[in-house]
Amino acid sequence: MHVDSTERKWVILSFLMAFAMIGILAAYAINYNIRPPSNVETIDSTALQLTEEFAEDSLGLKKAEDGSLVVTMVAMRYGFYPQDMKVPANTPITFRIASADVLHGVHTAGTNMNTMVVPGYVSQLTTTFPKPGKYPMFCNEYCGLGHDFMWSRLIVVPKEEFKFGEDS
Ligand code: CUA
Repeated sequence: MHVDSTERKWVILSFLMAFAMIGILAAYAINYNIRPPSNVETIDSTALQLTEEFAEDSLGLKKAEDGSLVVTMVAMRYGFYPQDMKVPANTPITFRIASADVLHGVHTAGTNMNTMVVPGYVSQLTTTFPKPGKYPMFCNEYCGLGHDFMWSRLIVVPKEEFKFGEDS
């Protein structure tokens, strides 16, 4: 089969470009510790208040039986609950987030925390915040007219200053 040399060059070039893009994506993902969600767990989004974990009174930061820190959150039009949450810096924290209505996203600016919150599923991720400060948490999936106003705040306090159970 005859392939024109210019044609061949472009075929090779387009393959090289595709591999370069895959390489850039992989390098970026490894460098910034970006991983696909791995937790598959279903929940009835219409009855979150009836569950033990996602009822209004049990949201927020908790210590799991093994001593690790777990945050349970509910995303609903148009806010994240609880709002203004305090967490310690330099400590692995597992977030468990459920939607009470439609598709939302949680993106905490300046960190690697970014996940979709799909109704019917529990989104789970574990991350560590190295730098203390106030981080805005945004919804990044269009969820209705109030989408632009759907945000809350994560307050990362230095590990030594963090006291468990103090308005967290
Ligand atoms: Cu919730 Cu956009």
